[in-house]
Amino acid sequence: MSTKIQRHEFLRSLGFKGASLLAVYCGAASLSSCQNESVGPASAIDFTLDLSNAAYSALNTVGKYVIYNQVVVARVSATSFAAVTQICSHEGRAQVVYNGTNFYCSAHGATFSTTGTALSVTNKAIASYKTALSGTTLRVYA
Ligand code: FES
Repeated sequence: MSTKIQRHEFLRSLGFKGASLLAVYCGAASLSSCQNESVGPASAIDFTLDLSNAAYSALNTVGKYVIYNQVVVARVSATSFAAVTQICSHEGRAQVVYNGTNFYCSAHGATFSTTGTALSVTNKAIASYKTALSGTTLRVYA
């Protein structure tokens, strides 16, 4: 069991719940934990994909994409990647893919730039994430 869970259980045993529990984390633990721990789903995104693994090797080809953890990761050029949430900002469908130029939602055709800016159907952007390639390891993070 992680320290975080133990602390959570401990605080809960004292009667802290929900938002007040989070406030306790960030108040009492701000010196160590709060820079890296997040409460929002967007900032919790941080994973790596091994591009030498067949499951993710599509990312070695410009124009291709993979979906991991509801994040669409695309190879947008010889040297760059882009990553956005799979959840469309229009009506919340998890149908965003990469069409070789833009991110695209197959539900009603919304398009988004490689940085998540809305281009059509909706004017609400979708969350985008940073990427960093080291060797064959691609990190995707908020
Ligand atoms: S939910 Fe994506 S375009 Fe409507």
